Amino acid sequence: MNTIMKQVSEEQIEEAVIFQAGQILKQGGLVAFPTETVYGLGANALDAAAAERTYTAKGRPSDNPLIIHIAQMEALEKIVTNIPEPAKKVAEIFWPGPLTMIFQKTEVVPYGITGGLDTVAVRMPASRIARAVIQAGGGYISAPSANTSGRPSPTTAQHVAEDMEGKIEMIVDGGAVEIGVESTILDMTVEPPMILRPGAITKEMLQDVIGTVTVDQALLHEDSTQAPKAPGMKYRHYAPRAQLSVVEGSSCQVSDYINRETQRHMDAGRKVGIIATEETKERYLAGDVKCVGTRADERTIAAGLYGSLREFDADEVDVIYSEAFDNEGIGSAVMNRLLKAAGHHVIKV
Ligand code: TXA
Ligand code: MG
Repeated sequence: MNTIMKQVSEEQIEEAVIFQAGQILKQGGLVAFPTETVYGLGANALDAAAAERTYTAKGRPSDNPLIIHIAQMEALEKIVTNIPEPAKKVAEIFWPGPLTMIFQKTEVVPYGITGGLDTVAVRMPASRIARAVIQAGGGYISAPSANTSGRPSPTTAQHVAEDMEGKIEMIVDGGAVEIGVESTILDMTVEPPMILRPGAITKEMLQDVIGTVTVDQALLHEDSTQAPKAPGMKYRHYAPRAQLSVVEGSSCQVSDYINRETQRHMDAGRKVGIIATEETKERYLAGDVKCVGTRADERTIAAGLYGSLREFDADEVDVIYSEAFDNEGIGSAVMNRLLKAAGHHVIKV
């Protein structure tokens, strides 16, 4: 299959490109498009056969459900049985935006996209390009991150092409995404609501609007015997090919340790990748050092993380060390993804 790649800018959205994307989606095809979090792999969510093609293109296990993306609030009623009051409040403040909510599904939602569950995940993205594509494609677009299952999520159209070229009909290239980690997932079918995946909308931000919000305990303890409530969170995910270790400790001890380990690996003929920041990058004496962002603004680290992990794959490094980051704000999403990418391999120095 020949994958069409077309550029679109957020400021001036090219109508012809959106129209073409919409036609492909309505005919059951697959179109990758940018959202503010990561690139999504879109299909008509109400067409079971179309959505199923998504699983094949990604190599994704069929028990891992998809998020339905909508472009306007009115679209919600058709796919969920009821909208609890707190969900209305959350939607008013955080939609459109990087937040997904879980509801009880109606029968128009195929079980093929919910992994057999009676609940459905819904998100209204903030990206104008995303909403234009959703609208043009009929208003209900399932969109998992547009990566091969297990690889880091794509934050540019080139990342999507690496994984999806020849497997999908079209890629809408809207440049690099703004946030860089996937949406927060909030389960509204339980009382109090529960965060199943941390993202840019933090627990504190949600609690300011609706009071108590809990966090799925399986996300907090690596050795939890309980499976995470979002089926996707149980898979090794966001992962580069090389073994990644996260090094925790005081800043100088971390860089000293990484320098020593780098030397040891290089002496043995292994190529080493290092995830550093603006503040620390000069300290590393050898190795493939990537600066993900600045500690002065954790959002830059979120935006740079997946791209760096992909670059290490391209550079064919054998081992990767990453500094740890603050768990505050979007930092909790960054650390969640980093620890999963590392298979929870943490070194305390
Ligand atoms: O930011 C995002 O949410 C991106 C962009 C493209 O919108 N999408 C995304 O989709 O991250 P995906 O498929 O890569 O991740 C969806 C996550 C999975 O962990 C899945 O298990 C969970 O949502 N999920 C979906 N439906 C669910 C449900 N009914 N109950 C619990 N978890 C659900
Ligand atoms: Mg994903």
